[in-house]
Amino acid sequence: MAMGDLMKVTVAGAGYVGLSNAVLLARENEVTIVDINETRVDLVNGGRSPIKDEDIEAAFHEGGLSLKATSDPKEGYGNASFVIVATPTDFDPAKKGLDASSVENVVRLVKELNPSAWCLVRSTLPIGFTRKLQEKLNFDHLLFIPEFLREGKAMKDTLSPSRLVIGTLKDDGETKKAAEEAAFLLLSPLKGKKVDIAFVKAEEAEAIKLFSNAYLAMRVAFFDELDGFALKHGLSSKAIIHGVSLDPRIGDYYNNPSFGYGGYCLSKDTKELGRTLVKDGALLIPTVDLSNEMRKEKILSRLLAYAAEHSGKTIGFYRLSSKAGSDGLRSSSTLDLLRGLNAKGVKAIIFEPSLEGESFEGNALEKDLTAFKEKADLIVANRVTSHLSDVKDKIFSRDVYHRD
Ligand SMILES: NC(=O)c1ccc[n+]([C@@H]2O[C@H](COP(=O)([O-])OP(=O)(O)OC[C@H]3O[C@@H](n4cnc5c(N)ncnc54)[C@H](O)[C@@H]3O)[C@@H](O)[C@H]2O)c1
Repeated sequence: MAMGDLMKVTVAGAGYVGLSNAVLLARENEVTIVDINETRVDLVNGGRSPIKDEDIEAAFHEGGLSLKATSDPKEGYGNASFVIVATPTDFDPAKKGLDASSVENVVRLVKELNPSAWCLVRSTLPIGFTRKLQEKLNFDHLLFIPEFLREGKAMKDTLSPSRLVIGTLKDDGETKKAAEEAAFLLLSPLKGKKVDIAFVKAEEAEAIKLFSNAYLAMRVAFFDELDGFALKHGLSSKAIIHGVSLDPRIGDYYNNPSFGYGGYCLSKDTKELGRTLVKDGALLIPTVDLSNEMRKEKILSRLLAYAAEHSGKTIGFYRLSSKAGSDGLRSSSTLDLLRGLNAKGVKAIIFEPSLEGESFEGNALEKDLTAFKEKADLIVANRVTSHLSDVKDKIFSRDVYHRD
């Protein structure tokens, strides 16, 4: 296939990663999405986004995409030159590691139905998984290309990626050609935007993904521990963070205290790397997730103390989602706090526009923000927005900078 030809690309998984990649590629290529979830398939074929994400929804609305979906592997994988694999790799507590079986299932089908296609795996994997899969299936057409997008900014990050890392299993001409074509496929829709590219071994690419997320998690945990210290000793968290962040090696960014990191990836990826590194005797990364759990425990005990001292008062949760702009409640630290309160018999009211119905896990949902602000005596908010500026005295938050 010559570069520049219209390519047939299949994307396995219509989630944040799969849809962002599909929307990016569907202006220049013929894209088919394969998903085992029929509802998601029907939504895509009906021209609607299966996930609540403003930018992805807007891209569907605008149209002009060469995009269809199917749950039939033969139809989906049979004709593609490239299959982008974006299926889930959740942390399996029983296995104490990422469960990448959905990735294996997709690659197995591609090998069976269309062995000349190349699988570009964008799901996050344990280090060494790509090579083990190659050996297990005796299938060489695998590249591991980690995805770094953020939920809530999925499309923006896809259009302006921080870097493109391409992990290969072999050094031969065929693999190099496939890696270069994959880079062209993913960069061509960005219309000349400068993106750093790193061609590395598959294991290095897997490590780059996990160490990147573990660093971000560690940074959140660091500033949360700093904030916990300030809170306990009656010091200004903002003053300390500001002074610390004036060192350009530290920098004044990604330093805003929170109720603990959450979202789909930081927690599971940090746990995965931690379990890998602990075998080598590492200390720091394997304890990052523990620090995050402790943070949530400490915040919860403050809320429980409030509930005990103010019986009859109403605790309100302003948003449960992990990220502004995302509907994701996956691994949300705020949701953990709510559940921690509920476990002790304390109910709350919730303002969370992405939730439908009258209640959520036995807590009343309040759709009207003004009514919510009136009813709640204490407003628990991981992030404080201008919508809360009239109820500053009611807010419980550790948000210093009003940003991520
Ligand atoms: N969400 C993020 O911000 C993000 C960022 C970077 C990397 N990742 C990684 O990308 C992967 C996907 O994440 P996501 O957030 O897009 O997931 P998601 O849960 O939003 O979507 C996954 C989709 O895959 C489908 N699926 C499951 N098994 C399948 C199979 N065998 N064949 C076809 N479809 C199947 C599901 O029905 C679902 O629609 C994960 O490994 C994740 O760690 C996610």
